[in-house]
Amino acid sequence: MDISIVVAASEDNAIGEGNALLWKLPNDMKFFKNTTWGMPVIMGRKTFESMASNPLKGRTNIVVSRQENWIEAHEGLLLAKSVEHAIELAKDSDCKEVFVIGGGEIYKQVLGIAHRIYLTRVHTLFPNADTFFPSIDHDSFQLVEEVAMTTDVKHAFSYTFQTWERKN
Ligand SMILES: NC(=O)c1ccc[n+]([C@@H]2O[C@H](COP(=O)([O-])OP(=O)(O)OC[C@H]3O[C@@H](n4cnc5c(N)ncnc54)[C@H](OP(=O)(O)O)[C@@H]3O)[C@@H](O)[C@H]2O)c1
Repeated sequence: MDISIVVAASEDNAIGEGNALLWKLPNDMKFFKNTTWGMPVIMGRKTFESMASNPLKGRTNIVVSRQENWIEAHEGLLLAKSVEHAIELAKDSDCKEVFVIGGGEIYKQVLGIAHRIYLTRVHTLFPNADTFFPSIDHDSFQLVEEVAMTTDVKHAFSYTFQTWERKN
């Protein structure tokens, strides 16, 4: 099973502020939905709560938390007590790829074992951001695909869809 990260990050790797996203980019949301649809997704407890605690439809939602009783109030989720446990739960679904969808704490723990990164690079800076994606080590990952997107009436920033694969 491949472990893939999906993330949207600014030029300086900012991904969030005040437990919310930094931008609205409808095309990126569509990309996220199309990429992860039908597959298991792993997220930290704070990212889950940032989505108004609504599980993503059409995907097995696996939420990582150290709080043992937290799951009781959230039906329809799988609770993992560690990142490793979350990956084991994803493997149980016999999928070929699991998607790690944030946030900052979880990305940091997964980057070293991820096979692939779907990175939407948002071409701007957010000085007040409080959550960041770790730097991609170019000795470990290579850029295999890149599609540049321009601003338009629904997209205030230009952005680039990138796919990074772990080098053998
Ligand atoms: N731009 C993007 O692509 C993107 C994507 C996702 C999220 N975000 C943003 O990222 C921010 C949230 O990220 P964050 O770093 O604050 O939080 P997070 O990674 O979503 O969640 C952190 C929580 O996960 C649990 N956790 C972390 N490591 C664990 C481990 N090893 N074992 C068990 N539980 C563990 C803990 O939950 P407990 O405290 O319950 O134990 C911890 O408080 C928000 O601003 C969100 O909007 C951005």
